[in-house]
Amino acid sequence: MAAQLAGQSLRFGWYFALNRLLDWRSEQLGRGSRYRPSGPVPSLQELLASQGELLLSDALAVRDGLYPAMEDDATAPLRHLARIRQMFADLPAALSRRAANDASSVNAEAAAAELPAYYAQDFHFQTGGYLSEDSARLYDVQVETLFMGAAGPMRRAALAPLASALQGRDQRRVSLLDVACGTGRFLRQVRLAYPALKLKGLDLSRAYLEEARRHLGELRPVEWIEAAAERMPLPDASVDVITAIFLFHELPPEVRRAAAAEFARVLRPGGMFVFLDSLQLGDKPEWDGLLESFPYRFHEPYYQGYLSDALEAMFAAHGLTPELTSTPFLSKLMVCRKAVPSPG
Ligand SMILES: C[S@@+](CC[C@H](N)C(=O)[O-])C[C@H]1O[C@@H](n2cnc3c(N)ncnc32)[C@H](O)[C@@H]1O
Repeated sequence: MAAQLAGQSLRFGWYFALNRLLDWRSEQLGRGSRYRPSGPVPSLQELLASQGELLLSDALAVRDGLYPAMEDDATAPLRHLARIRQMFADLPAALSRRAANDASSVNAEAAAAELPAYYAQDFHFQTGGYLSEDSARLYDVQVETLFMGAAGPMRRAALAPLASALQGRDQRRVSLLDVACGTGRFLRQVRLAYPALKLKGLDLSRAYLEEARRHLGELRPVEWIEAAAERMPLPDASVDVITAIFLFHELPPEVRRAAAAEFARVLRPGGMFVFLDSLQLGDKPEWDGLLESFPYRFHEPYYQGYLSDALEAMFAAHGLTPELTSTPFLSKLMVCRKAVPSPG
């Protein structure tokens, strides 16, 4: 536990410094964020205290044997540094797009024409949206810099409900599908914790799936599926656990509902759905201003609507009953269960 906490603290310090450096560089380029939210914003101390709580609860779960300690990024330092350099090199172009409110660089990618219009945009003003290899290579370092190293620990909060669901079960007979698996950061944590689980990772981006495949390279194979969350090429009632991390805030409201219906279709009766995404308005009312400002800094066309969408009711309406909700740091974790039909 002490080693995990020490590693996490170093990791936090590193990404905190990068976060500040990125803001400083943006100001220097004359492109700092000018948005002033109307709602309350937490102080830096409040944010850090909440992040500290997240790291502590992760370390306690490791101490209690729920899942293994988190790997750090120091395992491939040269690659990590190259990606940071690339992130800073890409910053002027991303900030120019933000200033011009232009989220169309994705259209230079051949795949854009075949993908739904709601998806073919430069999310976060990333060059190439989710479609280019460069975007897939930069994504993790960008997200960790934004969250001051807390993206990984927030994802790991979704491991705790898995630990209780899998207790006493034969892993080889349990299947888990991570929808919108991105670069595979969560699936790698799952694979390290459960070497024999049947894992599937689904995403609309071929480039991100490629990065995920590389990232899980030496571990036991995962089935990779290039498809949309709202139209999954999987049979009814064929999966035991579905996870979806940082997906729903990027979907238009009608696609959110179509995805919820699709998850309910694919889950086995009694199966578990683990949702982890951004906080919503009112989850931590004194932080509402921070949430409000996010889509002004990063292109997030559906985030405003997401912030007040009635997610619990939406999942329940599709037969996924929320059983547990918590709010680790900047995220909201919800565990839902698909009902088992009563006999007769
Ligand atoms: C913010 S990223 C989150 C990725 C990953 N779950 C994580 O924790 O980092 C959103 C991901 O959702 C994928 N995505 C967005 N809309 C999708 C859809 N309709 N179907 C499948 N994947 C989608 C994107 O390609 C991207 O990889």
